[in-house]
Amino acid sequence: MSTVVTVLGATGSIGRSAADVLAAHPDRFRIEAVVGGRDVAGLAATAKALGARFAAVADPDAHDALREALAGSGIASGSGASAVMEAVARPADIVVAGIAGTAGVLPTHAAVRLGRVVALANKECLVCAGHAFMRDAAAAGATVLPVDSEHNAILQALGRHEAADVERMILTASGGPFRTWSRERIAAATLKEALAHPNWSMGAKVTIDSATLMNKGLELVEAHHLFGVTAEVLGVVVHAQSIVHGLVSFRDGSVVAGLASPDMRVPLAHCLGFPDRIATPVKRLDLAAIGRLDFEEPDLDRFPALRLAQTALAAGGGAPTILNAANEIAVEAFLEGRIGLFGIPELVERVVDRMHGRNDPSPPASIEEALSLDAEARSIARENLLAVNLLH
Ligand SMILES: NC(=O)c1ccc[n+]([C@@H]2O[C@H](COP(=O)([O-])OP(=O)(O)OC[C@H]3O[C@@H](n4cnc5c(N)ncnc54)[C@H](OP(=O)(O)O)[C@@H]3O)[C@@H](O)[C@H]2O)c1
Repeated sequence: MSTVVTVLGATGSIGRSAADVLAAHPDRFRIEAVVGGRDVAGLAATAKALGARFAAVADPDAHDALREALAGSGIASGSGASAVMEAVARPADIVVAGIAGTAGVLPTHAAVRLGRVVALANKECLVCAGHAFMRDAAAAGATVLPVDSEHNAILQALGRHEAADVERMILTASGGPFRTWSRERIAAATLKEALAHPNWSMGAKVTIDSATLMNKGLELVEAHHLFGVTAEVLGVVVHAQSIVHGLVSFRDGSVVAGLASPDMRVPLAHCLGFPDRIATPVKRLDLAAIGRLDFEEPDLDRFPALRLAQTALAAGGGAPTILNAANEIAVEAFLEGRIGLFGIPELVERVVDRMHGRNDPSPPASIEEALSLDAEARSIARENLLAVNLLH
């Protein structure tokens, strides 16, 4: 019997990689629903290519265009938030959570509440609302499998072992396009330079987060929730080649690492096939051809966003929620050319400091509480944008 799959964020980078893996195994998978944000043409093409039964576009005004693009295919369609939720509610064994940003939190949360296996790429579910998200997933009997290559490598390295067996969990960071740049050069970096990631091809938001290393900081928060380990257990090492993705150091001194070509189809195939292994056409690792693997400490002076995220993780409570929301506004402003690259950590720090006194030591108790704190942090971030803009 086929495994039934729904893909959220089907028109994005993760969605396209997932579609590629799914299309290579037509006998194993049947696609129930695909969801996109605004890209009607891309969504219709993916829905047809995968033989989905339902396509939902989040843009409430895009239904006519989607219906037209799907004409004659027999694929049902809808638009707006209710259609996205309808897609999630349709029967599925696995939901690929590939919507970018906080927009992905409610649909992905709905999928875990239904007890699905969730191949989780959307990191905001964990960074914004990790405590409530994982608690609700456990209560519903959902399985959360990380798509992020670092966490996927750690999951595989962990095997059957528990957190108690683990001394350290190390996430690697490519260092992004500015790994070797001076602070002054980074300060003057253009959008084009920030979007030119050396190893990974990803959506704009996560690419900018990779350039500031905020992405690695968000991933530390993710790892904390996924694996139930404290901030002290988690570490980051810069590894420019992006071949080793994550390492687990056990209490007997053994270190198990996850290696693969930097291609998201590898962790996606791991999640989609789990617990089996399914074939992918990705480039095989040739370590002799690669020749060497380099590792270095992250430089928190040139990449202050990582330090901010580490501090937020250690502070706990609502701090990671606030950090994530402020960062989304800051990255949006950078993408619009309104602030420079260092304006991103500058704005995040201002918002975290402003809200610090009100940081409840316990994390948001529900998804709704997390989203309300997120909204407050966004509005404070928007208020502070002008001041940051004047500084950079
Ligand atoms: N790309 C990677 O290699 C990678 C690796 C690890 C983790 N991640 C995480 O995976 C998530 C997706 O990243 P990505 O790189 O695939 O981003 P992306 O290329 O920008 O794609 C984002 C997807 O989300 C959809 N979307 C945006 N707003 C939406 C809304 N309100 N409702 C429904 N769908 C909406 C977009 O639809 P439209 O395009 O149709 O507007 C698109 O399908 C992020 O959380 C990212 O951090 C990505």
